Amino acid sequence: MAISSDYMQELSQRTDIVELVSGYVQLRRRGRTYTGLCPFHSEKTPSFVVYPENSSFYCFGCGVGGDAITFVRKINNLDYIEAVKLLASRAGMPLPDERDDAGQIKRRILAMNKDAARFFAAQLNTEEGRAARGYLRGRALSDATIRHFGLGYAPGGFHATGDYLKKLGYTEEELLAGGIVKRSQRGGTYDFFHDRVIFPIIDLRGNVIAFGGRRMGEEGGPKYLNSGDTPVFKKSRNMFALNFAKKSQSKRYILCEGYMDAIALHQAGFDTAVAPLGTAFTPEQAKLLSNYAEELVLSYDSDEAGQKATRRAIGLLANESMKVSILTVQGAKDPDEFIKKYGAERFQMLLDGCSNAIEYALSRAKAKYDLTKPDGQVGYLRDAIEILSGRLTPTERDVYAGRVAEETNVEKKAVQTQLDARLRAKGRKAAKEREKALLEEGAASQIKVPYTQGGQKALGVAFAEQQLMAAALKDPKLLEKIAGRVTPGQFITPEMAQVYELLLRRRQAGEYIDLTQLSGELPEKTVSLLSRILAQNYDVGFTERDVEMYLSRIEDSVPRSVGAAEMSGEELESYLRRLRDQRR
Ligand code: UTP
Ligand code: MN
Repeated sequence: MAISSDYMQELSQRTDIVELVSGYVQLRRRGRTYTGLCPFHSEKTPSFVVYPENSSFYCFGCGVGGDAITFVRKINNLDYIEAVKLLASRAGMPLPDERDDAGQIKRRILAMNKDAARFFAAQLNTEEGRAARGYLRGRALSDATIRHFGLGYAPGGFHATGDYLKKLGYTEEELLAGGIVKRSQRGGTYDFFHDRVIFPIIDLRGNVIAFGGRRMGEEGGPKYLNSGDTPVFKKSRNMFALNFAKKSQSKRYILCEGYMDAIALHQAGFDTAVAPLGTAFTPEQAKLLSNYAEELVLSYDSDEAGQKATRRAIGLLANESMKVSILTVQGAKDPDEFIKKYGAERFQMLLDGCSNAIEYALSRAKAKYDLTKPDGQVGYLRDAIEILSGRLTPTERDVYAGRVAEETNVEKKAVQTQLDARLRAKGRKAAKEREKALLEEGAASQIKVPYTQGGQKALGVAFAEQQLMAAALKDPKLLEKIAGRVTPGQFITPEMAQVYELLLRRRQAGEYIDLTQLSGELPEKTVSLLSRILAQNYDVGFTERDVEMYLSRIEDSVPRSVGAAEMSGEELESYLRRLRDQRR
């Protein structure tokens, strides 16, 4: 659904981003900006900044940024339309005119799911639900856990659930759309879940979006049935129990394979356990978790399939910033069984053990040397410094530096001095890697043309494009200047070319847009990137001279008037490829 730009303009005028963010983050005024602790990653010193002047925010710690819409989307896990509606209701505006059937059916399905969940839960306490009660008890779930997760029972027969919901006023169409009933071969409908224990699947806002159902005996079809995708549910994008995990103080999440594992872990006090929803772990889920977790402990089944799934998950997590560790339960097939057999304390020990990769590495290093001899001490110290200069928190570094000092009979200060030196040396490398990552995120990976002038220059051009777009967003005058000189086709980064095209289109329509109106039109990543550039230039701003410099950088990079005949073969090839790419 497209929302008119007038509407969006009014919405952004009526939204005070400082007030909005203050609802979630404690902000302190600092000159023209406000700072606070970032709600999107955990930190102890504030690097999250709100810019009232252009209604944007940016976190220098984790790189998340954008406008008010981006903010409410991210913090509440909403889609674009939902975010607009939320802001509209805050601003006291009527909702964007919606002959929005999709929205209507979604609301109906959510209401229906809620009624269905209540029905299933109530069934658990009926005579018919006796076996299901016994089943859950047999799996060692307490009443409190059953209530907490809203577990229930879908009666047997093939019509109980459907009939009940129809009596509440839901139509057959709605029942079908929500996956509560299926169309039978004979043209009627039947309950999708019958005679099964029900696990409601709840999203981050507490909506019941789907169900999983387990058979209780050995017979009766697949062990678990799960709702298929519906207008309110995409199984690849949600996680079981994340609605609870996100409320935990702990940012160390436990990823397990099954619903029952997650529930057993929660019951045992591990309230950050989550599980996929009847499919293998997906890239979307990796991304979703990374919004909440700082560390992810993979705790899959101990069988071959579980180990294979672990390796696969590690691959998917490579791009996320979470620290990943692996916990394999031994003597049990999965965490649920492990806790039942050995208790929560033993599981806690496994968890602690897997955080202690450092201790493990140190002890391995120590075993290599004879610490009673000076050269053994020196050797161990060298290895230990290498280990401690890895990915550790400052506290961990401090603690283990002390330990190593004792072990080697060296003063702690001396250990720290060496460690600092190593960190600095690595820091240079790390700084370069960071720079590279930044460029990849922003530009380098997006560059279409392998420039004959060399990568370095292309990066400079990519940077110039970002700066120009940020300048154009900040000041309509600067957009005029840019528009008179370069075209989107001259841009080498498709992301910025898209921004530029959008700005020009709006300009042609006599409108000017700023950052606060971009999030509906551009990918989130682009909006985030732009808000970062705006944040970085906030205090200095963009002058005409800056713009001039960036413009000439772009102009110089393009073979303007060079005739094809004067180009080298390599240049020509690159030029042609460029033209082809532009036409695409
Ligand atoms: P498991 O078979 O390991 O599930 O499958 P579990 O949770 O340990 O099951 P219990 O302990 O026997 O009750 C892991 C997950 O794979 C999905 C479910 O999401 C399950 O939790 N699954 C499994 C299905 O969707 N369908 C199936 O038939 C089996
Ligand atoms: Mn199990």
